Amino acid sequence: MLIGIDLGTSTCKVIAVDGNGEVIAKASRDYPMINLRQGWAEQDPAEWWRATDEAIASLTASLPQGGREVTGIGLCGQMHGLTALDASGEPLRHAILWNDQRCAPQCDWITEQVGGLDELLRMTRNRMLPGYTGGKIIWFREHEPELFDRTVRILNPKDFLRLRMTGNYITDVSDASGTGLFDVERRVWSDELLAKLEIDKALLPDVVESIEDTGTLLPELARRWNLPEGIKVYGGGGDAVIQTTAMGLVDPGPVGFTIGTAGIVAGGASNCPENPGGRVQVSCGNAPGRWHIMGVSLSAGGAFHWLRDALAPATTTDPVSFERLVGLAKEVTPGSNGLLFLPYLLGERSPHVAPEASACWIGLTPMHKLGHLARSVMEGVLLNMREILEVCTQAGVPCERIVASGGASSESLWLQMLADVLNRETVTVTGATEGGAYGAALAAGVGSGTWSDFDEALTSVSVEKTFVPQQASVETYEKVFAVHRGLYDQLRPVYQEAAALC
Ligand code: XUL
Repeated sequence: MLIGIDLGTSTCKVIAVDGNGEVIAKASRDYPMINLRQGWAEQDPAEWWRATDEAIASLTASLPQGGREVTGIGLCGQMHGLTALDASGEPLRHAILWNDQRCAPQCDWITEQVGGLDELLRMTRNRMLPGYTGGKIIWFREHEPELFDRTVRILNPKDFLRLRMTGNYITDVSDASGTGLFDVERRVWSDELLAKLEIDKALLPDVVESIEDTGTLLPELARRWNLPEGIKVYGGGGDAVIQTTAMGLVDPGPVGFTIGTAGIVAGGASNCPENPGGRVQVSCGNAPGRWHIMGVSLSAGGAFHWLRDALAPATTTDPVSFERLVGLAKEVTPGSNGLLFLPYLLGERSPHVAPEASACWIGLTPMHKLGHLARSVMEGVLLNMREILEVCTQAGVPCERIVASGGASSESLWLQMLADVLNRETVTVTGATEGGAYGAALAAGVGSGTWSDFDEALTSVSVEKTFVPQQASVETYEKVFAVHRGLYDQLRPVYQEAAALC
């Protein structure tokens, strides 16, 4: 039995997976986001630990042998966050998260400092996105120098859990890739970039492959959680990467579409891709000798959530549920009667690197009703993800079939629309429903010898549902896409002027 831990953006989810790849038990605990200013997003690492501790205790209590049957633990979590620790491993401030946009100027500075984007891409294969850890480190050094001077280590979120669990400062290659400071081709920290930015490598953790042993669970925790003494914690991965692995997408061919809060379009690669122009995110894959390419839209399911929340304030006695919104959207014909939505509620990362962008509707008239708003938001999210697929394809990702996952994939309207927007058969698979936690359990299983490699571990992942494109809708979406894809470039000057007003 293996435990997979996923330290998400709002929830810590833990699952137990047996040697057949079956999920035997689950538990989760939530924690809040702290938004002190527009564009800032932080969390208290103590809350992460509280949630993880409670969730694991509850999980093991529900297992047939109370936890004694567990043979390994794998970690996964929200990527890119900065957790600054003092000499005794205590956080010096709240963690700055992946969706925090404050360090955009520092990212520009980094790019200039190394001699331009092409040089940065040569060193790391990645643009320094405002989400990435590297820009956050420079912001921290500039804005909170007293705290920075006391910082002895910097960890990504899931690796803070590892520190608490094993006492070791270690990350895995996929999360390290998302710092923007990692030489993704050689799978080591980029000494060249660290030197140019005057970042001391000693601040960063050691790096292992996702399947490697990173230490023994501390005896007091083994006792508290009723786990066997000497149990190991394995490398695991950044959530966006390892959830693709959990969908069975380790090698090139299929492309994953994850419609969660964010929208992730991702595929595997057997060589490290070049990433011209830095339009995609390139990471080391969870399988040794594999890589991972993805484009991330910051608002996917999150845009639909926003619509529901905007329409259903907490005080309403007749709240608009997701089911009702989806029901209304189903009644509207594809194309939402000429209503288009651009989903850049949080700015955008892909298909456009556009922190200044914002969301908008185009084509709104008095004849549009709530159902049109709902459907156009769903369509706008998926058309945006189709643009990301184009960017990924240009970066060398082949697309033989589409595998969908994420919270929205439990709703067949999203999946049918995806098949229609892409004009490709779309499937869901079993492993995808548990996301990164499943991938983390598989990494622990490969590391501890339950399976010899990810290929063997993934034999338990099978197709669940299939959605075939409907020709009439496909034709409509072709026309809508032709308009949609030109909108960002036309609006860019407006976004820049509007952003200057804030
Ligand atoms: C990936 C990304 C998000 C976070 C939070 O690049 O920013 O997927 O990992 O889930």
